[in-house]
Amino acid sequence: MKLWVVFCLAVLWVELQNGACQQVKRRKDVGENRIRPGGKRGKIRNPKIKDVGGKGQSLLTHVLDKGRFVRLGQTTTLTPGKDIELRCKGNSIGWSYPTYLDTFNDSRLSIKHSDKYSQLILTSPSAADTGSYSCWVIVCDGTECEMDHERTYASYIYFTDRDNLFVPSAIHFEIVYLRPDKPAVVPCRVTDPQAKVSLHREVPPEEITANETLVTYDPTKGFILQSPSSELQGVFYCKAVTRGTPQISTKYQLLYVEVPSGPPFVSLEASPESVRGGDNVNFTCTVLGEPEVDVSFTWSYPGQGRRPVHIHTSWRLVMRGMGHITRVTQSVMTVEDMETIDFGNYICKAKNPRGETMVSTNLISK
Ligand SMILES: *[C@@H]1O[C@H](CO)[C@@H](O)[C@H](O)[C@H]1NC(C)=O
Ligand SMILES: *[C@@H]1O[C@H](CO)[C@@H](O)[C@H](O)[C@H]1NC(C)=O
Ligand SMILES: *[C@@H]1O[C@H](CO)[C@@H](O)[C@H](O)[C@H]1NC(C)=O
Repeated sequence: MKLWVVFCLAVLWVELQNGACQQVKRRKDVGENRIRPGGKRGKIRNPKIKDVGGKGQSLLTHVLDKGRFVRLGQTTTLTPGKDIELRCKGNSIGWSYPTYLDTFNDSRLSIKHSDKYSQLILTSPSAADTGSYSCWVIVCDGTECEMDHERTYASYIYFTDRDNLFVPSAIHFEIVYLRPDKPAVVPCRVTDPQAKVSLHREVPPEEITANETLVTYDPTKGFILQSPSSELQGVFYCKAVTRGTPQISTKYQLLYVEVPSGPPFVSLEASPESVRGGDNVNFTCTVLGEPEVDVSFTWSYPGQGRRPVHIHTSWRLVMRGMGHITRVTQSVMTVEDMETIDFGNYICKAKNPRGETMVSTNLISK
């Protein structure tokens, strides 16, 4: 920190006018901001960066007619329908853009590299293309390459469309999970940063007022609900107004999830519980967890490698009371025609991104 200040003061003597200090600070912020792998949501915190003059600033530019360039700031507002060309200086450049464009393998998007710069071209952009566009310098050490976090530039581009104040979504009815331990986002993003947006419950009709602590609105994300409670369940929509008639977003079903985040909760049972040779047995390993969290299973059993078994894994969502929802994931292992070697300890190991839980059951002979 101190070094940075000293450096800045030194530079100030030399380049009094051109904002080099802001530049240095800005780069630091970008680096700290750890753009996630793929950089899809990269954003820059420091609001001062917008109109930095001088050398070394954002390498991300928008190419206008007649070879004019505009450096892109934190946010940019453009008109839909008009093709855009973004450029990023450097001989090895990576890009990120709204995932929407990849999901639909959109041929409107093309990226070309040359030895001096890289170009991203998007033809006939529409309101749906609103989102974060970023580029970064790729640095290589031998065959290992990685993005240079210090040289990552992002701009959130709004394609303002009066007929689509909300960024159109392919999903007409979205589910938003509310968890007691983290903020939830109702993703009604707008195409015009000036739009006034409000959040509404459908039944009973009620406006949820944005207030600085519990409910806030960010046009690039939507409504952010801090530590949401189960009272915020139900069907909601957003309303946006600029001038003229208000527009309504798609609907969002807010569901409260009561299972805390962590390694899976597992139970294992054998059916029937005691068997004799020649019987068939089902071992059912059940995990109760959060709706979006995938679970994988591994089985260990006495006849492993010597006896063929059949394993079937499936999951379903279960409603538990008013809007409380739980995902039930099950792996069923069937052992047919029990033999002596099949008696003993059966172990089910369930794994989710937050950990692993092991349970076992001992199968005894009648
Ligand atoms: C995307 O489109 C390109 C060219 O149209 C094609 O070669 C490629 O296989 C497509 N990828 C996917 C994932 O559909
Ligand atoms: C903020 O809004 C929430 C949800 O409507 C409400 O429960 C809470 O009391 C409000 N807080 C303040 C400080 O107004
Ligand atoms: C094992 O599960 C299968 C499929 O669910 C079922 O058809 C069968 O009756 C079950 N067998 C036992 C012994 O529970």
